[in-house]
Amino acid sequence: MKFVRFIMKHAALASVPKHIEHFSKFSPSPLSMKQFLDFGSINACEKTSFVFLRQELPVRLSNIMKEINLLPDKLVTTPSVQIVQSWYIQSLLEILDFLDKNPDDFKVLGEFVDALVTIRNRHNDVVPTMAQGIIEYKEAFPQDMVTNQNIQYFLDRFYMSRISIRMLINQHTLIFDGTLNPVHPNTIGSIDPHCEVGDVVQDAFHSAKMLCDQYYLRSPDLLLQEMCSKKKKNLPISIVYVPSHLYHMLFELFKNAMRATIETHDNSNNLPPIQVMVSLGDEDMSIKVSDKGGGVPFRRMDNLFSYMYSTAPTPQIGESTRPPLAGFGYGLPISRLYAKYFQGDLQLYSMEGHGTDAVIYLKALSTDSIERLPVYNKTALKNYKVSQEADDWCIPSKEPLDLSVYKVPK
Ligand SMILES: Nc1ncnc2c1ncn2[C@@H]1O[C@H](COP(=O)(O)OP(=O)(O)O)[C@@H](O)[C@H]1O
Ligand SMILES: [Mg+2]
Repeated sequence: MKFVRFIMKHAALASVPKHIEHFSKFSPSPLSMKQFLDFGSINACEKTSFVFLRQELPVRLSNIMKEINLLPDKLVTTPSVQIVQSWYIQSLLEILDFLDKNPDDFKVLGEFVDALVTIRNRHNDVVPTMAQGIIEYKEAFPQDMVTNQNIQYFLDRFYMSRISIRMLINQHTLIFDGTLNPVHPNTIGSIDPHCEVGDVVQDAFHSAKMLCDQYYLRSPDLLLQEMCSKKKKNLPISIVYVPSHLYHMLFELFKNAMRATIETHDNSNNLPPIQVMVSLGDEDMSIKVSDKGGGVPFRRMDNLFSYMYSTAPTPQIGESTRPPLAGFGYGLPISRLYAKYFQGDLQLYSMEGHGTDAVIYLKALSTDSIERLPVYNKTALKNYKVSQEADDWCIPSKEPLDLSVYKVPK
């Protein structure tokens, strides 16, 4: 029996490249916020969702698995990236198991929910494991600009794909596990049709403040303002959104703003507050987080969204029971992905010597909030094949210029 199972497992594994080839030929289908809501309310139909997901999940998985294979060999073969890859293969196989099952069978639908929960749990640690792989690679091999750019390009797409896959899994499991969310009965899966932005700001600020108090024994206050362009009484401002995504972004921005504020006002008794402006227009809902934490030199601005950049010492995983305030350098890049996921963005404006404004732009209308997904195609492939080319701007010399060489010969 054991032997038969081994053979079957082996046969399944051998078929993986063929499946990835097949499913990566399809483009992922981005869903709009409205479709997410419809799937979960008026048209809530478990069978439809099941039939959609057993095709769409393999498509999204395969598209990104193709890109993992385009990474430098020495990176793909690190133990950590190998583990991540094995999780993706395992999960792909588990979903493919449902391709020939009957959608009208109750038992099948129940098993599918269980399988999705298992898959979600398996992938919980993808981000730190992948990060570990990149660290291993960087330590072992000398780096060049092109490889760094490729890794940045890949990680943005890989983590975006992951956000989207978890969104699909969360919606299906939350809506069809047969129970109501006791804390938020009006949410549809993870989406709140009336997400009050000010409340999420307060929650995220409170959590960051607790962490900040633990580290520095003090923390700045919050000044929150809401503005609405319309004449209507739209306050407090609310949008159709995933509160946990918004919370994630704000929590990261607050941790950064608090650290900067405290470290630049080391010797002062008064800490300038962190100011937040929430503003709703016809098209955008924007949140600006402003601190007086001394800012960032302009030269460094591009680095802030790099997965390899942090000015805090790297915390050791498992070293302490409390979560670190900073140090992995993943706060900003991942937050920007959350913002971009539903067609928004996150930008930083800084004035060195004064402070930083971080602005989250989200779509005000749920009809504009559509998933932004990476697709594996020729353009993506080209982006991994870029080679190091000479700069077409002069590089200033660091050596003092020896003008004597220009002396006119006698
Ligand atoms: N509000 C801010 N003021 C000053 N520097 C900032 C601010 N936000 C981010 N930074 C800089 O950007 C770096 C990266 O931030 P982040 O991605 O959140 O990673 P981490 O906080 O783990 O270092 C920080 O280490 C810090 O140097
Ligand atoms: Mg941070």
